[in-house]
Amino acid sequence: MLKIGSLKLQSNLILAPMAGVSDLPFRKLNHKFGCELAFVEMINARCLGHKSKKTAEILRTDKIDKPLGMQLLGCEPAYIERAMDVLVKYNFDLLDFNAACPERKVTRRGEGASLLQEPGKLAKLLKIVVKRSSVPVTVKIRTGYDKDCINAPEVAQYAQDAGVKAIFIHGRTKQQLYSGAVDYETIRKVKKAVNVPVIGSGDVFSGELAKKLFDGTGCDGITVARGALGNPWIFEEIRHYLKTGQELPKPGMEEIIRTMLEHLDFSVDFFGPKYGVVIFRKFFGWYTKGFRKIRPLRETISRLKTRKDVEEVINQICLIRYPRQPGTSVK
Ligand SMILES: Cc1cc2nc3c(=O)[nH]c(=O)nc-3n(C[C@H](O)[C@H](O)[C@H](O)COP(=O)(O)O)c2cc1C
Repeated sequence: MLKIGSLKLQSNLILAPMAGVSDLPFRKLNHKFGCELAFVEMINARCLGHKSKKTAEILRTDKIDKPLGMQLLGCEPAYIERAMDVLVKYNFDLLDFNAACPERKVTRRGEGASLLQEPGKLAKLLKIVVKRSSVPVTVKIRTGYDKDCINAPEVAQYAQDAGVKAIFIHGRTKQQLYSGAVDYETIRKVKKAVNVPVIGSGDVFSGELAKKLFDGTGCDGITVARGALGNPWIFEEIRHYLKTGQELPKPGMEEIIRTMLEHLDFSVDFFGPKYGVVIFRKFFGWYTKGFRKIRPLRETISRLKTRKDVEEVINQICLIRYPRQPGTSVK
């Protein structure tokens, strides 16, 4: 169990926010497969005031989608205050503030990971969010801005003093983006520097890597991002590995097909028949990553427009060769 302020989680395995991925269908599916807390993709404080259709869609949730974290991005107090006035009307369980996004379009405005260079400013913004939030507030950071500025322990202390109830940390600098070794040592130092829970992330692609992250950092929980793409089984795999030290057999083909069809249905229900299919098509690529001779089916699916046609292609993957030995179903 993991406690973040007043929020009690049954497990410490969390689905990380991913822009362009963490929509309601994706979160629902992962909740069903055993992730405890899931996140909505980051929302810019400036956009929240504009009531755009896209933002309204991002904020939609339902009863399976719980517990749920929102994530706010911003650097201007006035926009953040206004965003908080909008957010209080929505039903979610935790509010994370993003000081980790390394994208240039974000950092050049002084948002996301660029705030790591100004812990004092970050703390002021966090105080605004904490003061106006009715749910526990957390912060997501990286180990630092670049190799010459590895300051996560200091940033974490500023954040704790500002009232956050947990620190999420991706074990890389802003400059590293998503490559290079995950820096367990700095996550360990953050854990020593604060009293609130520290939730680590970086390259959790298997049960074994999850254990390595826990053991190497002493963190209280972990988040999974890329490891969950086309792989909602990862939470079960991690849980099993942590308990037994053994990897679970990979899901069988029937299970993969059944899961893809369920994801497709969630997507169509949520986005509608046309857009739901378009959105699902990118997930097909992730579900079939590493499959031999999959390219023709991927090309076919990228042109399809109806649920029925996509279902036919999904069923055809039985006919191609699976790269790994399909094991017994994990569910
Ligand atoms: C496509 C994509 C979108 C992401 N979007 C967000 C986001 O909206 N907010 C955030 O805090 N992190 C975001 N991240 C970072 C992940 O949450 C995570 O910290 C990072 O990928 C490291 O974890 P992993 O090695 O398990 O992928 C994103 C990552 C990816 C790959």
